[in-house]
Amino acid sequence: MKPRTSCVVGVQWGDEGKGKIVDLLSKEADVVVRFQGGGNAGHTVVNGREKFVLHLIPSGILHRGTTCVIANGVVVDLVQLLEEIRDLRKRGVEVGRNLLLSERAHVVMPYHKQMDALSEKTSAKKIGTTQRGIGPCYSDKAARKGIRVADLYNPAFFMERLGALVGEKNRVLRALYDAPPLEADRIWMEYRRLAEEVEPFVGDATTYVNEAIDGGKRVLFEGAQGSLLDIDFGTYPYVTSSNSDACGIPAGAGVPPKKVGTIIGIAKAYCTRVGEGPFPTELVGGLGDKIREIGKEYGATTGRPRRCGWFDLVASRHAVMINGIDELAITKLDVLDGLDEVKVCTSYELDGQRIDRIPVDAETLARCRPVYKAFPGWRADTSKVRRYEGLPKAAKEYLRFLERSLKVRVTIVSVGTERVKTIFR
Ligand code: IMP
Repeated sequence: MKPRTSCVVGVQWGDEGKGKIVDLLSKEADVVVRFQGGGNAGHTVVNGREKFVLHLIPSGILHRGTTCVIANGVVVDLVQLLEEIRDLRKRGVEVGRNLLLSERAHVVMPYHKQMDALSEKTSAKKIGTTQRGIGPCYSDKAARKGIRVADLYNPAFFMERLGALVGEKNRVLRALYDAPPLEADRIWMEYRRLAEEVEPFVGDATTYVNEAIDGGKRVLFEGAQGSLLDIDFGTYPYVTSSNSDACGIPAGAGVPPKKVGTIIGIAKAYCTRVGEGPFPTELVGGLGDKIREIGKEYGATTGRPRRCGWFDLVASRHAVMINGIDELAITKLDVLDGLDEVKVCTSYELDGQRIDRIPVDAETLARCRPVYKAFPGWRADTSKVRRYEGLPKAAKEYLRFLERSLKVRVTIVSVGTERVKTIFR
């Protein structure tokens, strides 16, 4: 049987509107799986008149009958997860047997968050992280010094491991940051209590997802962050600490690569970035500020203002290649409605030469100047349009140019936050 799987991944630097698209596609999904990242994500879903911002729980949770899985590749802050569950329940959303947390997922510990904050505070070259402990937790995972969800249920092993780890962390905290020591016993007690609270959700997510795929269920993988923040293929070192594109699915969920089906890339009609790092098409001041205000471009997790700029085809082509994107969803087209002119970066100029591939290092990328193609603006309200044919001619020309340049068909256009403000083609 051909797997009925698909995934949603960001084509840019995150915040492309994946939450909205996953929520829409979840109506047709039996299982929605987060496979990487952690509480650094902020997926916004507007359900009727209510707005939900999800950080760890997949955006499918608002649909009855959809099971949401937090797979092994996610780093989980249990305090944040329980808060999210409580908040959803308070607002009438069912969270029970429809949520499964992988016993193999790594736990974000208090020292991870502390190290993330201290490292950002004291480092000369800041990344501008969300300070959710993501980098330090993945570092420990790779160094084989992590604590997995399953470890919390083996009290003696957890105590022994935590004791050794906290001893080591305390030496680093004192030597590098002159920070006071942490108490392993206290952390142990707190995390044993948290473990008890999350126990009903914990299970073998790997087998669950594979059996769902093999049983013909519709499984949707929900990427967090975006392809240009990918640890291997993004603008390193200004990236997150996981494979935030489709490459992350097999390892992050324990699913064979051949079973990852349709890859849907999400891109904004323009571009944004939060945190530090090169951004060739950034519009500083004037128009950039205008787009930020119209598009309400403020971080869903940290509230930071997002940097705004034009659509970057060089960076997007790279993302299309890495992910093998089959279809594109273009979001926030309506944000550009009032502009006289819309630009797209078609190549970069570097040291007097045109290049059309993204350089490997951030310093070189920072020296690239965008080469633009300008399009007349459509100066019309697209937020009420529901059929592709109904879009203004200039908007369709703009979208057609993106399609042709990326060699991918645009199948979804989003023209507002609400579910209804979506054009399916
Ligand atoms: P970290 O993932 O918190 O370590 O942050 C690393 C970089 O990724 C920073 O530039 C963050 O602003 C960025 N980042 C992390 N998560 C998101 C997200 O969900 N949307 C947009 N940027 C993100």
